[in-house]
Amino acid sequence: MAAYTPQKATRFLTGITTSGTPHLGNYAGLVRPSVRFSQRADVQSFYFMADYHALIKIDDPARIQRSTLEIAASWLACGLDPERVVFYRQSDIPEIPELTWLLTCVTGKGILNRAHAYKASVDKNLAKGEDPDADVTAGLFMYPVLMGADILLFNAHKVPVGRDQIQHIEMARDIAQRFNHLYGDHFVLPEAEVDDAVATLPGLDGRKMSKSYDNTIPLFSSRAQLQKLIGGIVTDSRAPGEPKETEGSALFQIFQAFADADETAALRKAYAEGIGWGDAKHLVFERIDRELTPLRERYEALMSDPAQIERTLLVGADKARELSRPFMTTLRHAVGLRSLASLGGQDAAVGKKAGKRSKADKSSKPTFKQYRERDGLFYFKLLDAHNDTLLQSRGFQSPQEAGRAIGALQHQPNEALTALAEQLEPVDNDGMRAVMAALEELAGQAS
Ligand code: TRP
Repeated sequence: MAAYTPQKATRFLTGITTSGTPHLGNYAGLVRPSVRFSQRADVQSFYFMADYHALIKIDDPARIQRSTLEIAASWLACGLDPERVVFYRQSDIPEIPELTWLLTCVTGKGILNRAHAYKASVDKNLAKGEDPDADVTAGLFMYPVLMGADILLFNAHKVPVGRDQIQHIEMARDIAQRFNHLYGDHFVLPEAEVDDAVATLPGLDGRKMSKSYDNTIPLFSSRAQLQKLIGGIVTDSRAPGEPKETEGSALFQIFQAFADADETAALRKAYAEGIGWGDAKHLVFERIDRELTPLRERYEALMSDPAQIERTLLVGADKARELSRPFMTTLRHAVGLRSLASLGGQDAAVGKKAGKRSKADKSSKPTFKQYRERDGLFYFKLLDAHNDTLLQSRGFQSPQEAGRAIGALQHQPNEALTALAEQLEPVDNDGMRAVMAALEELAGQAS
């Protein structure tokens, strides 16, 4: 049976750490391609503000809050449609830290020792002759597990990320594999999606645009500020009239990320003909500003009403939790965090006379048992004559829905098993044979 895939579409999921102000590099490299991509019918997209991750780097509460607002407003201003995608804030999903613990317990410490970000901190300490773990928090060490929980909780197939994040996706895969091996096939194994066609923008100093290099151009600076910042992009000392190289020109690369092929060809020609740097910068500024002006207006409107953004994020969290809540129930059950009532007792079986059934009773038949979980959803399981679970359902919204599924399984086992594939926990081949045998026994009884 298929793993947890209530939708047929490929699921894309990515998080944005709420530790700064979005810049042109984020826009060209992530926001713009993601917004375009999310409009496709064959994908289901999840975008979230990774504010738990921000806590690892930042201990300034106001900054985290501000950044969350700015990032959410930026995505919405750039055209992300929260109706089409699942757009939420990580810390509104309690299943994420809950899953983090389950994953922590199957993650090798040695794997985490090898994570780039943690290792870089340790190496820096060693180079300075300090204790290897000086100033390293357990949060930094656990970063990959939290990220794994973000991804695995929604069974994402693809995770669009920059190259620096590939290792984290591989770790999420490893963790998922280990969990699946121990507890059954619950998680999709995610893959990193690194798009080489997407622009990596250079910053003001020509290195990759990044908040860690302090060389960024904020996405939503004012027109005047944008002009000033573009004026500050490094160039060489060639005078107007001297031909200029496009190769290695940060200004040219930034232009290219905004211009179409004709515009790019025109600037290349102007470089060859010796356009002055001042004029070139003016052209680049006007081109970028043309794309950003309408977005800037929307951004300002959004930023002036934080309560509206809050509501949008809470609606997104509800949507996300419709998936994460029942899935977490399944996962809790899988690892053994289970209702004791489900062990069955005198009156646990539904629809049968209480007290009739016990493990020793050889005349026992398979039974369905219906129950309600802490998540408020309705479940059933098929037990064999010894009260061992053969089949476990996922959560249904109402007892009637669960009851209908049971009815279908009793009367048309084959068809129902196929039709209900996504509402049932996966079963391996041997298990499936036992399920079929039990259902046949029940069907025989009924007729
Ligand atoms: N670690 C990512 C970054 O810094 C942010 C992130 C957190 C993320 N959780 C995620 C990205 C899950 C993709 C999927 O860029």
